[in-house]
Amino acid sequence: MIDVHCHIIPGVDDGPDQIEKSIEMLKMAERDGIRKIIATPHRNHPMGYPKGNVQEQFDALKVASRNAGIDVDLYLGAEQYIGKEDVFREFEAFPLFDGRYLLVEFKTHIDLESLLTIVYELRVKGFWPIVAHVEMYPTIIRNDESIARIKEEGGLIQITASSLMGAVGKKIATKLMNAVRKGQVDFIASDAHGLNMRPPVLSTAYKHVQKNATMEIANRIFSDNPSKLMLGEEILTPKTLRKKSSHRRAYIIASIVTVLVLVFALGMKMIPEKEVQSQNVRVTEPVKVIKSAEINESVQEEPIPVESIPTELIEVEDIISKPMQTVEYPSKGSIESKYEEQLLVMKSEYETALDAYVNEIIEIKSTVSDQDLRNQKIDAIIDAIILMEQESDNMVYALLYEMQNDLEKEKYSVEQVQKFRDGYNDIKETTKMTYMEKIQN
Ligand SMILES: [Fe+2]
Repeated sequence: MIDVHCHIIPGVDDGPDQIEKSIEMLKMAERDGIRKIIATPHRNHPMGYPKGNVQEQFDALKVASRNAGIDVDLYLGAEQYIGKEDVFREFEAFPLFDGRYLLVEFKTHIDLESLLTIVYELRVKGFWPIVAHVEMYPTIIRNDESIARIKEEGGLIQITASSLMGAVGKKIATKLMNAVRKGQVDFIASDAHGLNMRPPVLSTAYKHVQKNATMEIANRIFSDNPSKLMLGEEILTPKTLRKKSSHRRAYIIASIVTVLVLVFALGMKMIPEKEVQSQNVRVTEPVKVIKSAEINESVQEEPIPVESIPTELIEVEDIISKPMQTVEYPSKGSIESKYEEQLLVMKSEYETALDAYVNEIIEIKSTVSDQDLRNQKIDAIIDAIILMEQESDNMVYALLYEMQNDLEKEKYSVEQVQKFRDGYNDIKETTKMTYMEKIQN
């Protein structure tokens, strides 16, 4: 088996932080029958991944793996985060292997139309996009048409082995198995991050597909398609590149915006300006612009009467001779408290929702006497809690990423971002314990 999505390089993303852990993961993969792994560190990720030098860390892991006598071949790929705006401009692509396959991930709450636009534009650019862990996008997976529409647009589908086995809820697992049976799933990968959560194990999912779909489908997903990927051969999809008016419209709008931005930037450069910077306040001092009438004075004896100067020039001068403009720049404290407030709002929303779910479980436990029905109802709520937790993680991480950017833009230190991140994880743990106790009592 070949694992095409695995975070196994130490110290570059949210995968293992030490090479010893990577080696343990490799040993686990080897025991599981995985013979090739494409290491896919996050690229362009809102959390700032990858960190460190990916190539160096990858090379070090290969050496360590060889020294440990592990029979798993390692290749360097990537899991590339792509926003809708990225596909309308030049961007650095990190193909999965030396070829056209891009393993792409998106923001958690991406809507289907945006996802389809990205897939379409990537196809137009000549890539073969693989939508990583399609089940992790709540809006996408709740819509029964999503997978078929992504395939129609030319996207390939990857799901995570543990999700197929129920790690993100039974409902989703059932939905994924249906997609597997319909031949809509192209890859099943581990998306391993460590030894416990999403481990580098594929055999359980392989057997599950073999049993609940067919042997042919299992072999295609776990072996044939990954082999084609590594050879750079195209995996056939029912896709036809249709020229969709909405996509073209989006492209045209993006082009117009780019042109306007360029025109504006060039226009601004024509006006020289002198910048004086004080703490948190940058003052832009206007410099006198010689209007064409004044230039003409040197060669013209007769001064030009004011009424003959074109109105546009008078207006430009009027604007320029207005009082100095000051632009306020935010202090470090104001940036930090702005994000702290948002985090507190998210925390309270999360707790309220969790409270409601837990109360629902408590009520079901005391009112539903049929054991099967009771378990079914409780499972559905647990599915919803798991999804909510993933959504919450993504929202918090995206917010902290924005905060880091805001602080870096003003050249402030970003240590508070890590403190908020740690605080969030602590709160999550404590909240979980509290509610577990509530449910058990
Ligand atoms: Fe991943």
